[in-house]
Amino acid sequence: MTVGNFGGSTEPVRVRVPAKINLALAVHEVRGDGYHELSTVFHAVDLYDEVTVRLAPRWSVTTIGHPEVPTGLKNLAGKAAKTLHAAMRGAGVGTVMADQVAIEIRKQIPVAGGMAGGSADAAATLVACNVLWRGEMTRDDLAEVGSMVGSDVPFALYGGTAVGAGRGEQLSPVLTRMTLDWVLAIADGGLSTQAVFTELDRLRRDGPPTMFRVDVEQVIAALRSGDVDAVAAALGNDLEPAALSLNPGLRRTVAAGVDSGALGVIVSGSGPTVALLCRDPEHATRVAAQMSGTGTCKVVRTVSGPVQGARIIGGAF
Ligand code: C5P
Repeated sequence: MTVGNFGGSTEPVRVRVPAKINLALAVHEVRGDGYHELSTVFHAVDLYDEVTVRLAPRWSVTTIGHPEVPTGLKNLAGKAAKTLHAAMRGAGVGTVMADQVAIEIRKQIPVAGGMAGGSADAAATLVACNVLWRGEMTRDDLAEVGSMVGSDVPFALYGGTAVGAGRGEQLSPVLTRMTLDWVLAIADGGLSTQAVFTELDRLRRDGPPTMFRVDVEQVIAALRSGDVDAVAAALGNDLEPAALSLNPGLRRTVAAGVDSGALGVIVSGSGPTVALLCRDPEHATRVAAQMSGTGTCKVVRTVSGPVQGARIIGGAF
């Protein structure tokens, strides 16, 4: 039986993909295409979504336990599958001609939480479809396709710790031996990435010209030095004032984080998840217990990074 026959015994492919934190995120000017030029340091942490993809008679995307996540092709994972399908067709590779896929997402990464969960699911889908359709595309090829789907998709494919430029899709790895231990304070509800960027533009237009422009080089130097206190001091996010403006309750979470004894506190990406950097796993356990008692977030998790990007953990490979 060939892989192209969806009526047969083809195995589903299961992929695990991590969430990210931006250790530093500097937002520069708006470009002609409406995106902001960024300088950022991505860091993948061991909080994973699991995506299972199987050949099917029609396209579908379902999410287990999260009714608020879009289904079907409105979901970034569906867009990723269709975009890869078109790219493989264009390149004349693989067995895509007859094949559509059913995508099932098991989420742990907070939805609209500033941790690139949607991009992670898209990246996992690319890895799975490449196997199912026998595309034999490299990770670099998949990253190129992924950048058409979302700015954070390429990083979810590679993982680790990496500098991102352009929209965030141009990546170069940061060589560091550091493991960072974190507590995540996950909010009840999410923030739209687009709305947070728009709010930043508004604040820059109307607000005081003071609080922006994070220094990405400082966090890179701190990572190379291996000094966790230096990393904590260098954490920064230009989107944070915009996230706090749209979700004022988040100030309480950040303040609780500062009081918790964490070394550094940062809103992750476009928020509203707050990431607290800790000295070691024991310190993270203590900070997590402290945060749980404050009632300033829905869920508290301890995580560490860096970890590798989207990887197959089961099925046809
Ligand atoms: O690329 P992605 O679809 O993840 O981006 C979501 C939205 O976030 C974009 O439509 C845009 O409004 C905003 N964005 C931006 N500049 C970036 C990345 C995202 O303005 N570098």
